[in-house]
Amino acid sequence: MVYIKDLSEHEGKEVQLKGWNAQKRDSKGLVFMTFRDGTGYCQAVISLDVVGEESFEAAKRLPQESSLAITGKVLKDERQIGGFEIQVQSLKVIAEAEDYPITPKEHGVDFLMDKRHLWLRSRRQWAIMRVRNEIIYSIHRFFQEHGFVQMDAPIFTGNACEGTTTLFETDYYGEPAYLSQSGQLYGEAMAMAQGLIYTFGPTFRAEKSKTRRHLSEFWMIEPEMAFYDLKMDMDLMEQFIQYVVGSVLVKCKDELKVLERDTTYLDKVCEPFIRMKYEDAVSVIKGEKEVNGKTSLQMLAEEDAALKAQKAQLESEIKEREDKIAGGTLKKGEINFNQNKVDKLKNEIKELDEKLANIPQWLNSAQNFKRGDDFGGSDETVLTKMFGQPVMVYNWPQEVKAFYMKEDETDTGYAKGVDLLAPEGYGEVVGGGERETDIERLKRKIEEHQLPMSAFEWYLDLRKFGNVPHAGFGLGLERLVAWICGLQHIRETIPFPRSYGRLLP
Ligand code: 4AD
Ligand code: MG
Repeated sequence: MVYIKDLSEHEGKEVQLKGWNAQKRDSKGLVFMTFRDGTGYCQAVISLDVVGEESFEAAKRLPQESSLAITGKVLKDERQIGGFEIQVQSLKVIAEAEDYPITPKEHGVDFLMDKRHLWLRSRRQWAIMRVRNEIIYSIHRFFQEHGFVQMDAPIFTGNACEGTTTLFETDYYGEPAYLSQSGQLYGEAMAMAQGLIYTFGPTFRAEKSKTRRHLSEFWMIEPEMAFYDLKMDMDLMEQFIQYVVGSVLVKCKDELKVLERDTTYLDKVCEPFIRMKYEDAVSVIKGEKEVNGKTSLQMLAEEDAALKAQKAQLESEIKEREDKIAGGTLKKGEINFNQNKVDKLKNEIKELDEKLANIPQWLNSAQNFKRGDDFGGSDETVLTKMFGQPVMVYNWPQEVKAFYMKEDETDTGYAKGVDLLAPEGYGEVVGGGERETDIERLKRKIEEHQLPMSAFEWYLDLRKFGNVPHAGFGLGLERLVAWICGLQHIRETIPFPRSYGRLLP
């Protein structure tokens, strides 16, 4: 058996492939099948003359997503999906599928989410998962090559690392325990043992709202470095993101093409990131400070106009096609073709409408942003839309950040935390900073945050035995996948998303 990914090594030879019928059409004695085997796609041409009546009829009848084995000669054909065609000599059906619910026509996203176990087979989803895989692999490569040791933090924890509002409580032998919101506190302990460590594990946040950025279960990568300060932390963060994005751009060209990802902004990631203090970022958000000769309010007005123009164009194309259909001169196949296009365009308009509906909200939150507040999704969107590059916002007001953030000695009231915001409106993908080392201050902060001191005794020990400056950060894997793939919503970035209101499939 040969895999589609290796077809180039078998050009002109006969091979056997095992896989599924992703889609097919037939015409006079020929069936053209889009064949997939998990490693890729190719066209399989099944000819009545070659395979004989029985196999041909079987192929012609074969429902979408039936599994089969095919044997045939490999021909290079750049025009075909995957760049290769198999001239089928013989085929064997492994299992005929029932009526497959996901057809080439457009489906609503709720329907697709309910069928996630099958939706994963669709080409776009396939491509996203391949990008996710390369991201994961390159993350490990980066850290391993830089001398970091991967160490795992526990999932059951007794403490709230990121505040008490998003905890999932479970019953741990009769005691309450929480699903980990972050491995960081354990990461700090492990960094004192190994110097440079990273964790890579699932984390949980009870987010009782449906947003395009939040999952209840997501994967976080958290490096923690002994003897690092905020500046070193930001340098590493930048180098790390550049490495991962760079790897995907090199290794996932085909996948990004399937996703129709415009990589203009990804290509710019190799340039130095913007670094700005919270106070300056606020001035940009509120429209008090221009970026490239433009205020945030002007930028939003321009975007609004551009989206409206795009919508008008789609509407006129829909009308054109609907008129054609109504004209009554088209053949059945042409009507289907046009109707499919219309459905697709209508979905695009729906997406545009969603974007358009956001703009007044963005404008509102930009104009009314209160200095000293944490950024919401809208604020991050506005800020990052002002730059074509990732932005690192640092030195945040202490009150809006977690208890473990170190206070800046030269800038009282501000914490040495940093958020990395991705461009194109994607917002926060990484959060991190330098950790508080002053044990008295830490105790005070734990009290202020109304956290139970007893759960943090072990953590405070780290400040008693060989206390050193240290820093780290946490990357949200799914947020990075969404940005790199250019997805509207985080739900497509993970095989089986868990979010408010969804536990199945
Ligand atoms: O900013 P956060 O809350 O930071 C921490 O947890 C730190 N302890 C990390 C550290 O310094 N070691 O979360 C880090 C990242 C965010 O930037 C975001 O990318 C992601 O985790 N994240 C989420 N991703 C999906 N769904 C959610 N509900 C998320 N909450 C955070
Ligand atoms: Mg954060």
